[in-house]
Amino acid sequence: MYDKKGFLEISNRYFCSMTNRKLKNAELERKSVSEFKEAEKTPIIVILDNIRSLNNIGSVFRTADAFLIKKIYLCGITARPPHKDIQKTALGATDTVDWEYIEDTLELVENLKKEGVKVFSIEQAENSVMLNDFQVEKGNTLAVIFGNEVKGVHQNVVSASHGVIEIPQLGSKHSLNIAVSTGVVLWDLFSKLKAQKKT
Ligand SMILES: C[S@@+](CC[C@H](N)C(=O)[O-])C[C@H]1O[C@@H](n2cnc3c(N)ncnc32)[C@H](O)[C@@H]1O
Repeated sequence: MYDKKGFLEISNRYFCSMTNRKLKNAELERKSVSEFKEAEKTPIIVILDNIRSLNNIGSVFRTADAFLIKKIYLCGITARPPHKDIQKTALGATDTVDWEYIEDTLELVENLKKEGVKVFSIEQAENSVMLNDFQVEKGNTLAVIFGNEVKGVHQNVVSASHGVIEIPQLGSKHSLNIAVSTGVVLWDLFSKLKAQKKT
């Protein structure tokens, strides 16, 4: 048994001896919904082409929130919030990230191109550019299209894109999970845009 002073001394010593103390949520100083809405956005649009899994859709929202993504377009069979299975993985990110449902992915791509947005399918295709070699052009808004868990991005949509970006894979599996692909691609593009801003 320790008296109060002894207990404090021991817990302080324990506290001070902790290396790389993990941060509490409050210490992360994340934005509120209204702060997020007002924040300057990363000039990247995400397009989900016929995503079947609600958990994947929610995961994409959570990743898009992390990198202040401008907007998510939900296309075709892609389900829309509110839905409890989207919420399970989005954890509230459907309230922060702007989104819109557009049935026809191809029509959306054509319209975005007319607005001057550079549109890239994220796929494995002939003449694709590997993500690590992909250079972001200054001043452009980029749209990145991710495809269905089984069929991928529809070929018509791939063909209508300005280009295709592929994530290099060296293992035995043909492809990555769509939500994982979104994490990899958004982080890469976000870092490249950040680095560009500094120059
Ligand atoms: C599970 S994959 C679909 C695989 C499907 N067999 C196909 O034909 O595309 C789902 C989505 O994740 C993305 N994806 C997965 N692995 C990828 C990779 N190595 N490079 C680019 N995109 C990838 C693509 O957007 C793809 O449409």
